[in-house]
Amino acid sequence: MPGETGPAEGPRTIDTSVAHSARVHDYWLGGKDNFAADRAAGDAVMEAYPGIVMSVRANRAFLARAVRFLAAEAGIRQFLDIGTGIPAANNTHEVAQSVAPGCRVVYVDYDPVVLTYAHALLTGATPGTIDYIDADLRDPQTVLQHAARTLDLKKPVAVMLIAVMHLIVDEDDPYGIVGRLMDAVPPGSYLALSQVASDIQAEQMAEGAKRYNRLARETQRHRNRAEVARFFDGLELAEPGLVPVQQWRPASELEATARSAMWGGVARKP
Ligand SMILES: C[S@@+](CC[C@H](N)C(=O)[O-])C[C@H]1O[C@@H](n2cnc3c(N)ncnc32)[C@H](O)[C@@H]1O
Repeated sequence: MPGETGPAEGPRTIDTSVAHSARVHDYWLGGKDNFAADRAAGDAVMEAYPGIVMSVRANRAFLARAVRFLAAEAGIRQFLDIGTGIPAANNTHEVAQSVAPGCRVVYVDYDPVVLTYAHALLTGATPGTIDYIDADLRDPQTVLQHAARTLDLKKPVAVMLIAVMHLIVDEDDPYGIVGRLMDAVPPGSYLALSQVASDIQAEQMAEGAKRYNRLARETQRHRNRAEVARFFDGLELAEPGLVPVQQWRPASELEATARSAMWGGVARKP
């Protein structure tokens, strides 16, 4: 696969017997890359929290607005998008390169189905500007080492952790991971992060997590606003700060009136 790099561990099989976050997310977004186990987990969460579909769509719109802000207003030309997901509308490189065609984007995910779609993310882009790394966020050193083939880590980078940190449990040191990523990029870099909330629609979300964790491969760890704010320690949050994703610079009345159970923010490394 052109442009794809990653740890040489050989092909992994796709386990369709248990739900995976990338495929459940794809199901909620109306995609076709999901199996019965993913749909069962997706439906179980939907029964507990019927707003989940609107929430993941609001998060996806946040992703696009954050990338547009970073490219158009903050002047960022390099993006490290970790926890990419199965391609959907407005992928990071499409939004960034619509603002500035020379933007470089490195995608990272550990899901074998996302890997099979890496070519779709890479096709049609200016050669050499996009890469896909098949790697685990919990190993930031490997992520950074491979990202350095495409990104100049001496120049500002937007580290994007969109709807992925809820899949990093406390035992895996989520704050240490984000800290190591941000330590590796220079001042003027940005962190764009959204995370599933434990303190918005709290009861429904807790029940949703309980059901999801029974059926899925990864364990979800929802976080409250203070816990999410900690990811931005030492960084300068851009206006309007850390807010429910639909409130982050909505581009239309429709976007602004969506509902989500996700916190999101974009911050600059001073
Ligand atoms: C909920 S989806 C979010 C996709 C996309 N960022 C979005 O917001 O639309 C989470 C993605 O993170 C990936 N992921 C979860 N844990 C990961 C890890 N430890 N390393 C790399 N990717 C991970 C999953 O495979 C999945 O594709």
